Amino acid sequence: MRSNSPTCRVIVAVVGVVAICLGLVPGWAPAAEEVVLYTARHYGQEKAFDAFTQKTGIQIKSLNGDAGQLFERLKAEGDRSPADVLITVDAGNLWNAARAGLLAPVTSAELTRNIPAHLRDPESRWFGLTMRARTIMYNTKKVNPADLSTYEALGDPRWKGRLCLRSSGYIYNQSLLATMIKRHGEPRTEQIVKGWVANQPTIISGDTKILEAIAAGQCDVGLTNSYYLARMLAKDASFPVAPFWANQGTTGTHVNVSGGGVTAHAKNRAAAVKLLEFLSTLEAQQMFADTAMEFPANPKAETNPIVRAWGPFKHDDIGVASAGEFQAAATRLADRAGYK
Ligand SMILES: [Fe+2]
Repeated sequence: MRSNSPTCRVIVAVVGVVAICLGLVPGWAPAAEEVVLYTARHYGQEKAFDAFTQKTGIQIKSLNGDAGQLFERLKAEGDRSPADVLITVDAGNLWNAARAGLLAPVTSAELTRNIPAHLRDPESRWFGLTMRARTIMYNTKKVNPADLSTYEALGDPRWKGRLCLRSSGYIYNQSLLATMIKRHGEPRTEQIVKGWVANQPTIISGDTKILEAIAAGQCDVGLTNSYYLARMLAKDASFPVAPFWANQGTTGTHVNVSGGGVTAHAKNRAAAVKLLEFLSTLEAQQMFADTAMEFPANPKAETNPIVRAWGPFKHDDIGVASAGEFQAAATRLADRAGYK
């Protein structure tokens, strides 16, 4: 048989392909699998991402931006988008992305098992990956915590000129108001917000800046997300601010999530689902809790010691999707109440 017969050539070709696949031919390593992530989270996730790549061999290619930029980009790219996964902060943002058709539903027993129902989309287009509490923060040298109780009570005249708030237009506060609307209805929520406004709050553009203002005595109480305080305490254990868990006798403290979903036009959907599933596991959740100092969305993971020292609290278990459902109503309500 001549060596260049068709049969022979096929055998040589097959052997060649197998050799390449097995990495036997130098310089012919197979391309690594990749998942493309658009993310508006910018803190505390690197360790979990590295662990995913180590475990699966799938590389994560990240594009960072704020939620608005990433949404616009996804919309403009349409079905040409290279993105497989979108991760962002705040259920209000995730809800907006889902409503704009940017996310596709995912059926995953693992995600359903790991993430409690109230921290994910009822239609499975996004899943909370970390939980954060937005609660009352107070100056430990100037305020007796016995004087604190609820979000509503920050409208008590005793807090006149002593309250710092972020603007009503910021998504964290929109989500807080939206959840209050879901809980209490618009008239009662408007009354609560009018109470805050009557106390002439100082409006400050940033949670960290609010905590600094409380520590400096510029105001005595404020509302911020929990992890900002944890990060400041990690740098300076004597920072004179503590959280007060709001509404423990009633609805519980307001919580929100950062989370993610698989994009509508994902090119590597299988790897995208795998990434979300991994991020919901005990292993990855522990990394989030330890480095980002948020609460794990998966209740099996433990909180960071600084966060744990604040003690357990009852959180509002209303579906965080309500942050999106009532977002527009929250904006209108804040306008009516004169909350800038
Ligand atoms: Fe934040």
